[in-house]
Amino acid sequence: MSQITAFGTYVPEKVIDNHYFESFMDTNDEWIISRTGIKTRRFSKDGEYTSDLAVKAVENLVEQSGTDISDVDYIIVCTTSPDQPMPNAASRVQYKLGIKNAGCNDVYAACAGFIYGLQIAHGFVNSGVYKKVLVIGAETLSKITDFEDRTSCILFGDAAGAALIEPSEEEHFIAFNSGTNGDLGHDLYLSHKKNSINGVGINPHGKIVQNGRSVFKWAVGNIPIKIRELIAKAGLTLDDIDYIVPHSANLRIIEAIAKDLNYPMDRVPESVTEFGNTSSASIPLAIAKSERNGGIKKGDKLLLIGFGGGLTFAGTIVIW
Ligand code: COA
Repeated sequence: MSQITAFGTYVPEKVIDNHYFESFMDTNDEWIISRTGIKTRRFSKDGEYTSDLAVKAVENLVEQSGTDISDVDYIIVCTTSPDQPMPNAASRVQYKLGIKNAGCNDVYAACAGFIYGLQIAHGFVNSGVYKKVLVIGAETLSKITDFEDRTSCILFGDAAGAALIEPSEEEHFIAFNSGTNGDLGHDLYLSHKKNSINGVGINPHGKIVQNGRSVFKWAVGNIPIKIRELIAKAGLTLDDIDYIVPHSANLRIIEAIAKDLNYPMDRVPESVTEFGNTSSASIPLAIAKSERNGGIKKGDKLLLIGFGGGLTFAGTIVIW
């Protein structure tokens, strides 16, 4: 049995408001807020990369919990924006934090990454393969954003969140689910090489490209169904869930999910208005923000669900 025993987050210092984009493209604060809810986001500095943010999130986890991480035996970094493809981001974190004996692996599942990471960590700990697993969602999306595409560049931000998974007396992970619509892979991609997905031509320029409407429709149409399935799988009802924390892609998507479920928005923490879409870091940021504001507390039942590029999703119900 396993649980999250420590938790931390980090956002870079540089705050970027919506007016920043007005200086080089045809857009405005009002459009961005009305379509996405985003007011500000954070961008990493030149020379500050995903593993640097990941390390800061783990340092925050240590500060908050006082836990010893020197004997962590596995590090999972969930990211779409590693410093480079090889060595992986987890290995950079291992080196920078001086964690001597950790296995290191990156999970590459875009905005669903953090939850996939939790699922893998749970499997490792519950099977006894590893005892102390760090799961980190970390992104420097500003370094892979196409600043000539006004429909996407306004969305993304940089951040990191970290959780430590360890054995426990009681099981804290109540249920998991996941699934993928690979047939929609071309609707949200980042390619360095190949110029087609599913036979559809794509631009291999190494920046994030999306068909915003298609992703929006897929998320709003599918995620409420997957939330209901997950709750049923756990043998619970919606009333048993204290907070639903969906990936903070867009405030309109989150509101549509809450409306479909007839679930109150004040129990749906988000990080998108302040930090933009931070992909695999967005769920940790939303939890941290809710905790700071007196929302989520220890013992609450949380339903976490990430979704995005793939198009893939992953969910869990966890006792915080
Ligand atoms: N500023 C001003 N106008 C903009 C703009 C911007 N930054 N970006 C697009 N527009 C314009 C479009 O050109 C279009 O103009 P037109 O009607 O003259 O052609 C109009 O706004 C509507 O564009 P559309 O793309 O249909 O807007 P939308 O309501 O679908 O909103 C997104 C666009 C990207 C905000 C929305 O589709 C979205 O959030 N999708 C999900 C994206 C997402 O979350 N991705 C990550 C998932 S993990």
